[in-house]
Amino acid sequence: MTNRTAKISTGSGDLTYPLLEGSVGPDVIDIRKLYGESGMFTYDPGFTSTASCQSAITYIDGDEGILLHRGYPIDQLAEQSSFMEVAYLLLHGDLPKKNELEEFNYIISRHTMLHEQLATFYRGFRRDAHPMAIMCGVVGALSAFYHDSTDITDPQQRLIASHRLIAKMPTIAAMAYKYSIGQPFLYPDNSLSYTGNFLRMTFGVPAEPYEVNPIVEKAMDRIFILHADHEQNASTSTVRLAGSSGANPFACIAAGIACLWGPAHGGANEAALNMLREIGDVKRIKEYVARAKDKNDPFRLMGFGHRVYKNYDPRAKVMQQTAEEVLKELKLSDPVLDVARELEQIALSDEYFIEKKLYPNVDFYSGIILNAIGFPTEMFTALFALARTVGWVAQWNEMISDPEQKIGRPRQLYVGATQRDYVPAGKR
Ligand code: CMC
Repeated sequence: MTNRTAKISTGSGDLTYPLLEGSVGPDVIDIRKLYGESGMFTYDPGFTSTASCQSAITYIDGDEGILLHRGYPIDQLAEQSSFMEVAYLLLHGDLPKKNELEEFNYIISRHTMLHEQLATFYRGFRRDAHPMAIMCGVVGALSAFYHDSTDITDPQQRLIASHRLIAKMPTIAAMAYKYSIGQPFLYPDNSLSYTGNFLRMTFGVPAEPYEVNPIVEKAMDRIFILHADHEQNASTSTVRLAGSSGANPFACIAAGIACLWGPAHGGANEAALNMLREIGDVKRIKEYVARAKDKNDPFRLMGFGHRVYKNYDPRAKVMQQTAEEVLKELKLSDPVLDVARELEQIALSDEYFIEKKLYPNVDFYSGIILNAIGFPTEMFTALFALARTVGWVAQWNEMISDPEQKIGRPRQLYVGATQRDYVPAGKR
């Protein structure tokens, strides 16, 4: 803590507010008393300059392209860790010791099954329902099945709800996929890893044994690590806002899934691959880059640009390397990877993208890997939701335990009609 302050000059004089200092990153002006003292609000649509909470989970330096989870760089975690280890780290603050990791794996594996009644929910959806529509519905419905983990004032119940959400997400996502292709659901197999089990429930069939491909398992696990958390992004803030009212964790995560679905957020991985396919040939890249730069054309390069990163997204680097490795090791070639590589080069040397500091983000290359593994594009955002659930529950738990936590209630700059009298319909 520091005794430094910041002065805000208003028409009626200067007001002084404490400057808060994090362990790293920009200082923060604590304006909590501003309205009470001045009768004024601050205006910050999109929260570009507003810290909504204190957090000790994830740190991003967007200018330098740095992403740390509990202090550990994302590339080290992606290279050396596993998704389960990262999940433990995000939830508990430190990397697990060997026995702690074994216990965590065991606990998560014991929660992978869904209440049998939940399977009937799927049958209420059309077969062509988007998996994210199913995820929103089924995850929200978990609150109706697991009443013994919805008391948010009980830390033990919060932990059980967190374990349930992390454990059941692969089952829920795999069932959404199976439903869309008309194949029977597969029950989890707890002898497999978290990621291996998910691959089996997605691509296996009850009629024959499924062998998990270790290359695919490793790539998928890495994709999960790269999506596990990302500080106060739109869906995480949505989870926190929903949770700030005391809503149960399953309802909060369903809210996060709804927010993630949008193409400016998690939906960008689906949109990015669709865009690369539409471009189809390196010869057409220039045309699309010109469209992205045209102010009169709403088209944007999907998988490019980020609110926080004004440098290369460190997740995109690992993702690109993983895409190259997976295609090579699976002996696949995909012309879309050539288009992506070339598009990246052209965009990164273009004045428009340089000036606006637009770089590839996590979604630019992920679709190519997921496509190589065999997922249809509609599943991409559901996989993002599966992995991000870990971050959401860690952030939700942190919020509930924060003594400064209050219901989220932004104010507004009102620009509508001022008070006027009601006029009966015949006299308007
Ligand atoms: N292609 C072309 N121009 C772009 C792009 C893009 N992908 N992204 C931003 N710009 C331009 C934008 O037109 C604006 O120009 P100007 O200042 O002349 O009006 C400027 O760059 C700043 O853009 P912004 O929309 O004000 O920036 P933002 O911080 O509000 O938006 C973003 C960030 C990620 C929504 C945006 O870059 C975007 O729409 N990207 C494409 C979608 C995408 O890939 N989203 C995934 C984000 S990473 C994963 C996740 O968070 O889920």
